[in-house]
Amino acid sequence: MKYLGSILTAATLLSAGCAGELDAGPILEDGTLTDPNEPPLVAPQSSEEAFAPIAQDLQDTCGNGGCHAGGTSVPFLPATGPATMELVMQYQTQLLGNPLWDQDTATLYTYGDGRSHAGGTFNYQMGTTSGISAWFAVEKAAPTGGGGGAPQPSAMQIWSGCMDLTDWENRNVAGLWANKGTNGNADCIICHASGRSGFLANVNDQEVFDFVTQYPSYMAGYFSLDPATGEVIVAEQRLTDVGQRKAPNQSHPAYSYSAGNANNALEAFYADTKARLDAGTCGPPRF
Ligand code: HEC
Repeated sequence: MKYLGSILTAATLLSAGCAGELDAGPILEDGTLTDPNEPPLVAPQSSEEAFAPIAQDLQDTCGNGGCHAGGTSVPFLPATGPATMELVMQYQTQLLGNPLWDQDTATLYTYGDGRSHAGGTFNYQMGTTSGISAWFAVEKAAPTGGGGGAPQPSAMQIWSGCMDLTDWENRNVAGLWANKGTNGNADCIICHASGRSGFLANVNDQEVFDFVTQYPSYMAGYFSLDPATGEVIVAEQRLTDVGQRKAPNQSHPAYSYSAGNANNALEAFYADTKARLDAGTCGPPRF
């Protein structure tokens, strides 16, 4: 592929004067904009795979570079090597939210996104808070055990079987989100065509549908769980917060969740899917 040159600069995308600005990258010969730094589309599946990308940063920020390598406070990280999921899980009451896996109350997330903690502020490297979101999504989507019986499918697993490709195509969910503009006019597809940070936006209906229905961390780009009811809802909060550049996404191009038609399409598709759930006409879970 031949690059014609970088036409979008951070200055056109973002308001002036903010740190850590994002560059949209070059334009291809066929007119497609791409971000050369976007990692390829991959599909994390297990808890361990979802945890892996955050392990070293937890260790560097909270362990070796922080106070949690043992001894003081909550010693949830070893002195050397990457963090392990087992150790983090041992401190789930302190770290992983109430209710469990609730990002807003999980200190593992909030203390690494620049909020005040122990008299200071701490920031993970770019991507780790997204990685925590993705890991939590995988855990929330895992079958619920207990009671000694067979594990029951989680709400997100059930939802994955209720989503229908024809509805998805008719509502044009993928296309509208791919082409949704930010305030600097850079569409989501420029940086999310391969699923950066768990948000996949491109015009290939089938591909986006497959990833959103088969992998909880990608489902979490469009749907989340209502912590109060445990029901699947549209990920309006996350999509709104990122567009408003709330921590830890202060460098993200600003956009309005409800500008244009993308949110309407997603909400209509949600209603189609909910109708199948309520009518009991869903297929089997896809993960
Ligand atoms: C210029 C590149 C660029 C564009 C355009 C862009 N994003 Fe992003 N997006 C990023 C980067 C980089 C990250 C990871 C770091 C961050 O969040 O700032 C990200 C992260 C995200 C996340 C995950 C954040 C989290 O942790 O919850 C969501 C959701 C998201 N973007 C949605 C969108 C939507 C919706 C659009 C279009 C309206 C969009 N992005 C357009 C670069 C971009």
